[in-house]
Parts: sequence; C-alpha cells; structure tokens
Amino acid sequence: MIDKDLSSYSIGLFDSGVGGLTVMQEIARLLPNENLIYLGDTARVPYGNKSSGTIIRYSIENAIFLLEKQIKILIIACNTASALALCKLRQIFNIPILGVIEPGAQQAAATTRNKRIAVLGTKSTIESGAYQKAILTLLPQATIFPISCPLLVPLVEEQFLYHPASKLIIENYLKELKYADVDTILLGCTHYPLLKHFITDIMGSKVTVVDSASTCATAVKTLLESNQLAYSHNQALHRYFVTDDPDKFRYLGEHLFQSPLPPIELHSIY
Ligand code: DGL
Repeated sequence: MIDKDLSSYSIGLFDSGVGGLTVMQEIARLLPNENLIYLGDTARVPYGNKSSGTIIRYSIENAIFLLEKQIKILIIACNTASALALCKLRQIFNIPILGVIEPGAQQAAATTRNKRIAVLGTKSTIESGAYQKAILTLLPQATIFPISCPLLVPLVEEQFLYHPASKLIIENYLKELKYADVDTILLGCTHYPLLKHFITDIMGSKVTVVDSASTCATAVKTLLESNQLAYSHNQALHRYFVTDDPDKFRYLGEHLFQSPLPPIELHSIY
C-alpha cells in the first residue's frame, strides 16, 4: 500500500547536462500538474566517454541527492547513465526508476517499417550494447546500425546548434549509413534532439528520426497511475539544480528551448 502523502512528492530527473531537459519538457507537457526536480551534473559532463564504474558512481550520487528532495519516482534522463547504471540503481534504491533506453527502443521498433534502424549515441552507450539488446528483444528480425558520436554532446553544450561545423561532423558520422537503407534513426542521447534538424536534412524525408522523450513521458504517466502515485498540484513547481555554473546552465537552457527558466540552484559536489 502506497503512503498517501507520497503521491504529492516530486518526479526527479537527472542528466549530465542540459540534454535531459528534452525529456523534462515532454514530461511537463504530458503531466503539467506534477512537481519536477531536475539535476544537471554540469561539473562532470560529458558522461559518454567515461568508464562504466565512473558513470555508475556519478549516477548513485545524483540519485541520492534527488531522493533527499522527496521524490516519488526517479527518471534517468540520460541514455549513457540508463545504459550503464539503471540495474545498479534499481538494486540499491527502493523507488520506481525509469531509464530512457527502453522507451527509445519502443519508439524505434514502433516506427520502422523495413526493420533497419540506426542508433546514434555516446561512445559508452553504443559500446554497452544496451540499445541493440533492447531493440532486438522487441523486434528480433531488426538490423541495427549503431554509431558512436562522441563530439555531439560538446557541440550542444557549446551551443553549436546551427553551426556549419556541427553539420560537417554529423555528415561524417552518418556517412556509413549511405548504403544501409535504414528507415529510422534513433537518437540515443538526450542531447541529440537539439541537433535533429541537421540529421533530418542530411538523411532526407524517407528516414524518420525518433528519440526517447515522448515515449518516456508516456511510461512515466503509466507508472504513476498504476502505482497510485499521480497527483495534481494547483501550481506545479519545477526546480533545477546543477553541480556547476548555474548561470551558464540557465543561459544555455533558455537559449536552447526559447523559454524562460526559474533561477537555477547550485548543488556543489566538491
Ligand atoms: N544526455 C546524455 C545521454 O543521453 C549525454 C551523455 C554525456 O554526457 O556524454 O547520453
């Protein structure tokens, strides 16, 4: 039996930086009356080129911080941390925890017609094989083209969203898809939706570009409802914490999403 008060708690999310805001936006859109608390681990971004031990340690620390803020569910709004740390966090913490790999795989499997899917992700996400496994579980006949794109997170964090250098780099990553005949590209990193325009431009209209955000938001809604954890605050509160330079995060977040953010709070980890 769920403690009645628990439903009024917040939904906690974390990512290494601004990328997880793409997931937070979808959750806020689908669940406008839920309180949300976001943690961007900006002192330690990027996660995608770090070892699994480090990513697991960072993820545990992020989860502890959010749990201290009274959350009812935890969303790992980072593919890298979902791929490497979801199992460990579920072993340690007694709270429902959702990652973004399963929702992304569902979205890709539901979208493809020819079962040929490219997955773009950070080095750690791609090397973990988590997406390959999740898609093949849903669609055993799928052919998957995993592509590691280590330069894309820094490009987003540095606001190179429309810079010709970003287009060149993306073209280079996608060139191996030239004869792959994929009809679906899954953005397996929460930063990548911010570069989607280039990917769509390069691949053309026959390829559908999908990500985890909306499927993840639907999974959150279902989880809350099935655990009697849904709540309707009159005025939902969104709080944002970062582990470094709140002003930079606020500037970046507002610039990327073209909407004002409340003051960003510092959670100092050093
Ligand atoms: N947004 C994170 C992800 O989805 C970025 C990882 C990184 O910091 O490199 O994988």
